[in-house]
Amino acid sequence: MAPLSPRYGGDWNPEQWDDATVDEDIRLMQEAGVNLVSLGIFSWAFLEPREGTYDFDWIIRIMDKCAAAGIAVDLATGTASPPAWMARNHPETLPIDRDGRTLQFGSRQQFSPANPYVRRKAADLARALATAVKGHDALVMWHISNEFGNEVAESFDDISLAEFRSWLAQRYPSIDDLNDAWGTAFWSQRYSSFEEVGPPAPLPTFHNPGHLFDWRQFFSDQLLACYEAEARALREVTPDIPITTNFMGFFPTTDYWTWAEGVDIVTDDSYPDPASPFSAHQVACTGDLMRSLGGNRPFLLMEQTTNAVQWREFNTSKRPGQFHLWSLQRVGHGADGILQFQWRQSRAGSETFHSAMVPHAGTDTPLWRDVCALGEELAKLGPVLGKVPTNRIGVVLDWKAQWACEALLTRGPIDHFAQVGQWHRTWWEAGYGVDILPVDANFAPYDVVILPALVRLPNDGTDLAARVREAAAAGTQVFLAGPTGHTDGRLHAFLGGYGGPLAEAAGVFVHDHFCPAPTLTYPWSGEQVRPRLDRISGAVGTPGAYPTIEMSVAADHALGQIAQAAGLDDHWCTGDGWADLMRPHEDVEVVARWGKRGALADYQGDPAITYRAFPPAADGRQGGIWWIGTQLGAPARAAFAARAAQLARLTPTGGKMWPAGIECVERGDCVFFLNHSDREITLASVADGHTLLAGAGTLTGVDLVVPPRSGAVLQATGT
Ligand code: GLA
Repeated sequence: MAPLSPRYGGDWNPEQWDDATVDEDIRLMQEAGVNLVSLGIFSWAFLEPREGTYDFDWIIRIMDKCAAAGIAVDLATGTASPPAWMARNHPETLPIDRDGRTLQFGSRQQFSPANPYVRRKAADLARALATAVKGHDALVMWHISNEFGNEVAESFDDISLAEFRSWLAQRYPSIDDLNDAWGTAFWSQRYSSFEEVGPPAPLPTFHNPGHLFDWRQFFSDQLLACYEAEARALREVTPDIPITTNFMGFFPTTDYWTWAEGVDIVTDDSYPDPASPFSAHQVACTGDLMRSLGGNRPFLLMEQTTNAVQWREFNTSKRPGQFHLWSLQRVGHGADGILQFQWRQSRAGSETFHSAMVPHAGTDTPLWRDVCALGEELAKLGPVLGKVPTNRIGVVLDWKAQWACEALLTRGPIDHFAQVGQWHRTWWEAGYGVDILPVDANFAPYDVVILPALVRLPNDGTDLAARVREAAAAGTQVFLAGPTGHTDGRLHAFLGGYGGPLAEAAGVFVHDHFCPAPTLTYPWSGEQVRPRLDRISGAVGTPGAYPTIEMSVAADHALGQIAQAAGLDDHWCTGDGWADLMRPHEDVEVVARWGKRGALADYQGDPAITYRAFPPAADGRQGGIWWIGTQLGAPARAAFAARAAQLARLTPTGGKMWPAGIECVERGDCVFFLNHSDREITLASVADGHTLLAGAGTLTGVDLVVPPRSGAVLQATGT
């Protein structure tokens, strides 16, 4: 069952339906062009109805029907929801939350990730199931568990604590090493044995950051060990069947760079909110992340929904066309398959009102016609399979930097993921394709690399600094943007200047930070200052209470011209939340200085953004390192990105800036034009030398007309 076109289908839960409905499902799947279903995701209670007794006949019968109908199966091991007998016979497997409450049976994912019994039982089930279905014609992929860590990503039970202690004992050669790493000389937190270490449960006041960070890493490792235990069992029995587990985009809890090494294909679940104008960006950004996690290889969209979900407070529907548009967009960013949660809308249970491919009302519905239409479109997209976009811009994303943001108590809120998203969006809005890079990547092949809010540097930062210098010397524009390098890998502050070796590479000495506190009111009553009434308080100046950080850019700098050409007003160069107080080295250009208005008024004229130019590389590219001492606002990010593109001589994907609302993505010789707007857009001459492969567009000569909220895919002729 090798795919000739992208995979199309969804989670199928036939155990919720009678035989006649199952047969109808198969027929409807064929009607809709479904070629892959994820089967049995929550079936543990049916696969092992009593502890140690398996029943696989029913699922094999379903797989037989799939095989006969030419529908491939992504078979789940079913282990995401342990059955009731597990909770009854082994209550110690139930997770305990931070407040000491046991999470009971009756929902899903109610197991402690560190529990060895659950892990063994899951692996046993996976092995037995694999043995029963080995060689089955329908089996093309394994789907281990479901969304690891989504509901339960930690547990404060005794077994977890014992496992945490042995994990620490393996990580640290001695308890003194742990004491050093966590800095336990502070507040008399010193441990004399690993047995004294507890969980970071509620404590009288602030946690130790090292303790929190290691707890996070420990559970990411425990969840991964659950995955690996099942993967090992499957590989023993069916070594040729690829294995996956579904990721969840920018899920903060599990380090997907590590996880991606253990899956044969990266798959993602994604539910952007149709009510947000930024959802189109979310589709693009998570698509880029998934492709990048796999080493710039295609991925599968394992779950999205056809219309509305039911789990937000307010669940708006997708607008007409949006299901197709976002599906095509995923394909443009590297998806080789589009699957939905779920095939048939449940009749009962907590997801009854979550949309599906077959709605409650049946097939005489607009939604069903939409589902069939998408199947038809995807079937035409065989030529894109296996191809990927080639991007010149990289944005670094590091799970450990995110964990550091959560563990450290800094002077203002820092969110690495949010800054990654912002910088990605800036480039995406400007029409450029972006790869997401791990912090240990080689940056030199890229023209522009951004490291946003990398608050924690790996190890002592030397290796990262060396790669940043190498890239700049090879011609890369490197941006060290936002709060950077407060600590080393152990969350110890850099002494002798924040940023350590990275600041050294950029040529700046960062001696302090300033964070605005924009919501100052009188502490007890919430009253605001009244300058005329409050004789003394009214006379006190508090620039730090101003929410915006303003900067001035050197009058003759190219950035000023860029901002002017883009129609930005005089206050285009602003930041928020964070400011570095610094002194640049002599060979470093000061590009922007703190302005006389705004939160940094007391530092007016001091450097805010610097640039260290490197000599031109052998191929003529000229690299450099930017140090951006604040979190830039959207207009400033756009201007700096434009400047970097200018220096790197980059043009947007497709060679030009497209009309507002149009996103252009390329996969090899296939070009996707995605119209996110509410108006029909004609793209002149784009079809010259191309044929229309799929999508809603029409050709008038060499012009392509793309209706509102739709996409069209062209392929170069003669390729
Ligand atoms: C997740 C789960 C699915 C389903 C959907 C609903 O992605 O994996 O089982 O609950 O959410 O949106």
